[in-house]
Formats: sequence, C-alpha cells, structure tokens
Amino acid sequence: MAVNARPNGLIIAIDGPSGAGKSTIARLLAKRLGYLQIDTGAMYRAVAFLVGQAGIDPGDVAAVERLCNSADIRLDNANCSLRVYANGQDVTELIRTPEMSLMTSRISALRPVRESMMLLQRRLGQDGGVVLEGRDIGTAVFPDAELKFFLFASPEERGKRRYAELVGNGEPVTLEETIEAVTRRDRQDSQRDIAPLRQAEDAIPVDSSHSSIEEVLNKMEDIARGKIQQAGTLL
Ligand code: DC
Repeated sequence: MAVNARPNGLIIAIDGPSGAGKSTIARLLAKRLGYLQIDTGAMYRAVAFLVGQAGIDPGDVAAVERLCNSADIRLDNANCSLRVYANGQDVTELIRTPEMSLMTSRISALRPVRESMMLLQRRLGQDGGVVLEGRDIGTAVFPDAELKFFLFASPEERGKRRYAELVGNGEPVTLEETIEAVTRRDRQDSQRDIAPLRQAEDAIPVDSSHSSIEEVLNKMEDIARGKIQQAGTLL
C-alpha cells in the first residue's frame, strides 16, 4: 500500500510491554501531530470489566464470545483525556486496578475477544491520522501501518513506573509485587497463541529505560514528522 493511501494521515503503531510508557507517549505524540490516540489496552480492559461484572467464568469461552458480540466499547478522547465506556458505563478508573490488569491479560488471550477487538480497532484506525498503542498493532491489527515503534524498558524500570502510578491512584501495593505482576503479565502476553506481544520486523525499537518522556517523545515525533513529510500528508 502506498504510504499516503489513508485520507486522514498515517497509521502509527506503538507496541511494547506494560509500563514502557506507551500510553503517555501515545497520548502526547497524538496531541503533537493532531492525530487520534487509540488505547487498545483500554478496550481489552473494558471487555474484562464486563466479563467480571456479568460473573462469567473466563474459562467459559462461549459465554465470553456472546458477551463480546453484544458489548459496546467506546473510547472518548475529548480534551486529550481518555474516558472509557463499556455498555454505556464510564469504567475509566475501574479498569486500572492491578486485579483488572491481570484479568485483562487472561481475557485478551481468548480468540473471540481478540477477533472482536481487532475488528473494532481496524474500523477506528483504517482512515489513518491515528496513534494506536498495544501489543499486536504492528504485527496483527495493522501489519501495513506506515510507522511502527516498539517501546520497551527494563522490567525493573517498568515495575517502578507502574508502582508510582498505582500508588498515585491510592492502590495499596508494594514495589516487589508490582515488578512481579508486570513480569507475569509480560510472560502471559508474550506466550499466548494468538497475536502474542512481539516486535514487528519493521518496527523501530525505542528503549525508554534511561530516557525522559520528553526525550523519547521528541525522538519519536521527529521520526513521525519525517515519515509524514515523506508521505506528502498534510498535518
Ligand atoms: O496496555 P494495557 O496494560 O492497558 O493492556 C492491558 C492488557 O491487554 C495487556 O496485559 C494485554 C492486553 N492487550 C492485548 O492483548 N493487545 C493489545 N493490543 C493491547 C492490550
């Protein structure tokens, strides 16, 4: 596909493990470029929330599939702050607990969940002008994305960041258990059969271990602007 085939701009994929800074970077990069941010992890979290709320056993794949077929998941990016809705309920804060993170990692390995979310993500992103962040954007959702980043950091650094975030949200967690949970989730996300977390061959690796958000963001913005210019796409 030609790089300027999308009416609204490029598709920019940011994949990587949890705690590498994807959400913050995706939000700020989308803002700088005037693009829409699509947080695909939030979509999986919203599904996991509905599964829990309905009291469905995650092992009951048929029941999870029925739920997916009727679920209404929406992301609202108004005023650059993301709100997440599941069947009309604002679940923005409810989906960010450590329990929901692990539950989401488990639910997101199920085929019907991946298929329904992938369809939705493709519909939302296909016209371009989007920054999608997740685990499988560059490998499975949009393998033809014009620009792909793989953002990563050491497990210790990612654990520390997630810990600071959770403590900021008032969660009673320790650093050790947070590092443990991050590592466990990485393992689950990387070892599942369908669309596991991995770097696309044509993704640009970005190590955020020893850099500030601003440094990482500037570097990615430079690359994105170069690509946009090359594609002849107007901002
Ligand atoms: O990015 P996050 O931490 O909010 O994602 C929560 C979980 O959702 C993550 O552990 C794996 C799953 N996920 C996925 O399987 N594919 C994506 N594109 C995004 C998230």
